[in-house]
Amino acid sequence: MLDELLRHIPFRKGDGIPRMALPDVAPEGTRIRAGHFVHVSYLAANRDPAVFPDSDALDFDRAPHPHMTFGWGGHRCIATAPARAELETAIGALLTRFPHLRLAVPDSEVQWDTETIRRFPLRLPVSW
Ligand code: HEM
Repeated sequence: MLDELLRHIPFRKGDGIPRMALPDVAPEGTRIRAGHFVHVSYLAANRDPAVFPDSDALDFDRAPHPHMTFGWGGHRCIATAPARAELETAIGALLTRFPHLRLAVPDSEVQWDTETIRRFPLRLPVSW
């Protein structure tokens, strides 16, 4: 469940982290010259329909497949394991304590932060 949530919910508004090619490279036939920047979108990768069928759907029965929420390769998030453990504990405890937790307003009424790169609701009225 946690991995599908991590895949599906954009954790911030920015797309990803720019990378600069050191030598000329041509991944999958696309030529990138040394010194040019590439902006890899973790969010688009997490919704890639070639990897995640019906990728916009939140599907807890989806076949397991690595997502890009913590990045990939040499700069993959150094805190992946503790961040996952914290989320598992927090979400698990919240749902155990409040099994009927629900939004108390239509989701269209939830206001989101527009001033930072982070993605979070300004208020989240709930009922339980
Ligand atoms: C849900 C929580 C978190 C998410 C989704 C997340 C996501 C990411 C992502 C996408 C990257 C970039 C990976 C890349 O460049 O390919 C990253 C890097 C990094 N993260 Fe996290 N992160 C989280 C929590 C944390 C926490 C709690 C810490 C520290 C206590 C942390 C420390 C770092 C560091 C130091 C890097 C840079 C690693 C490097 O460049 O080698 N992250 N994280």
